[in-house]
Formats: sequence, C-alpha cells, structure tokens
Amino acid sequence: MAECLAFLRYLYLKALVAFSRFLLKLLTTTPSPKPDYVLQVPSRDKNRTVKVHVYKPHIEENAQPKSTPVLINLYGSGLAIPLHGADDDFCRLIAATTGHTVLDVNYCLAPEYPFPHALNDVEDILKYVNNHPTEYDTSRISISGFSSGGTLALAASTILPPGTFQSLIAFYPATNLFQDPGLRKAPVVGGKDRSPFWTRIFRESYIRGMDARDPRISPAFADTTNFPDRMLVVTGELDESAVEAEALAEKARDEGRAVGRDVVIRRVKGCGHAFDKKLTGEIVVSAKNETYDLAVEILRKS
Ligand SMILES: *[C@@H]1O[C@H](CO)[C@@H](O)[C@H](O)[C@H]1NC(C)=O
Ligand SMILES: *[C@@H]1O[C@H](CO)[C@@H](O)[C@H](O)[C@H]1NC(C)=O
Repeated sequence: MAECLAFLRYLYLKALVAFSRFLLKLLTTTPSPKPDYVLQVPSRDKNRTVKVHVYKPHIEENAQPKSTPVLINLYGSGLAIPLHGADDDFCRLIAATTGHTVLDVNYCLAPEYPFPHALNDVEDILKYVNNHPTEYDTSRISISGFSSGGTLALAASTILPPGTFQSLIAFYPATNLFQDPGLRKAPVVGGKDRSPFWTRIFRESYIRGMDARDPRISPAFADTTNFPDRMLVVTGELDESAVEAEALAEKARDEGRAVGRDVVIRRVKGCGHAFDKKLTGEIVVSAKNETYDLAVEILRKS
C-alpha cells in the first residue's frame, strides 16, 4: 500500500515536472553552448554516462602538452530542469582567462534520478579527473555551481576530504531545502518572486522522503570543516535564497578563521535569482561582469 502510494506520488511529480520542462522549452530559448568537445564519463549507475562539456584553456602552438588545473561546473536546474549549457559564457571565460580546463557537467535530474544520484555524478566526475593525471593537475581542482548547482557544489564539499577542492564558487545557491520556500524573504523586496509551488515540486522530486536536514541535501546544516580554503558566494539582493546562502558563507568564514579560509561574500544590488542569465538592464550586465571577474580572480590564485 505504502509502495503503491509512493509510486502514485512519483507519477504525479513526474507529470508536473514534465509539464514544466515542456513550458520552458516553449517559452524560452534553450541554451546553445559551444564547448571544445563533449565527453561521456561513466557513471556508477549501470548503463548510464554523464555528459560533460569541455572548455580548454588556450595553449600556445608547439607548447609541450601539460596537465591543467580543472574547474568542475554545475549548472542551475532546480534539480529537475534540463538547462545544461546555460553557463557557456562563464565556462568559456574561465577557460580563457585562468588556465583551467572547465568541465561543465550534465548531472542527472529528478524525479527520474532523486538524491543522491546528482551528487554521485559529481563524485564520479572527480574520480574521472583523478584517473587522468597527465591531462589534469589533480592537485588543483576547483568546483563551481549556479543555483541548485551551487547547492550540489557545497554539498560535495561537505562530504569530500578537505583539500579536494582548491576553491568553491557558488552563485545564488539554495542551502536550506528543509525550510518551506514560501517562507523565504529576499533582503530587499521588489524582485519577481519565484513560485513556491514549483520550488516545492522540484524539491520533493529530489528529496523523495529523505530528511531534508541531511547536509548532503541542505548544506546549511553542514559542518564547514571540509570546505575549501577559498570560497566565493554571490547573492542577489532581490533573491529569496540570499539570506540563507550568506548565513552559510559567514559560518564558513567564522569557523575557517583558524585555518585562514578566505571567504568572499558578494551581494549584488538590484539583482535577483539567476541575474546573469537574464541580461536586462545595465545593473544586471555590470553585476555579471563584476561577479564573473571575482570568480576569475579566485581561480587565478587556485
Ligand atoms: C543498456 O542500454 C542498452 C542500449 O541502450 C539497452 O539495450 C539495454 O537494455 C540496457 N540495459 C539495462 C540493464 O538497462
Ligand atoms: C568587465 O569589464 C571590464 C571593463 O570593460 C573588462 O576588462 C572585463 O574583461 C569584463 N569582465 C567580464 C567578465 O566580462
């Protein structure tokens, strides 16, 4: 009986998510990324690979091939919406200006793949990088993510040993999936609120009955010991996820003082969630420029 109800619930979630994916396709232009090439990395799930867009740094002609530092990037999906490629600008910029090879990961989505599959994908990519030391400098791996990708980047940093990542960059991450999304408030009112209904549906699709206070789901509940020595957390003042993200970043900074952790928290004015993907107006354009430059700066030190 319980199993039957759970299955019906799954069908309900799947139908709603399918509908929202369809609407998105209809109403927005899907990303058209231009990576240098595409990799299919084996997943621990049998019969599944994880697609990765690879952005290579510029190498002088005739230069000796050598291993490069790596940035693993995780796009924003609400953990359910296929928007892989939306960070094309960011990935290209980082590859072109910091010497990192950027691996933009198409991690799997809920409800078809609930927690912890997406997080497993991140670990499987890391394993792949570590297994290719001639290509990648395995002592210089960093991780970045946008929105739910930032959530995954933070979650991965809590479960992997300290030193795994040199730097962590999170743009407007959700950090507390336990709190009802309807209760969140942006630091400054006046932005376009995201619908709590859809956020609830996406979250339930991912969490599927697990305790959302698990720090691998909600990094707000994490012990920050394992976080990298360098962090950049970017939030928008019109975004309801800003307050919780800043609270976690401040905790990481306070608890990391003893080890000299450097945490940059940048809240941009006049910007909401995913501001860098909606280039409407001068404020947003210059916020994108400034915060991407902060990411470049931190990766140049990594
Ligand atoms: C694995 O994938 C192949 C090819 O798509 C398919 O024919 C096969 O049934 C799959 N096996 C399993 C166990 O899913
Ligand atoms: C930001 O603007 C400055 C000045 O125009 C420019 O030099 C820099 O490359 C820009 N950065 C990004 C990330 O676009």
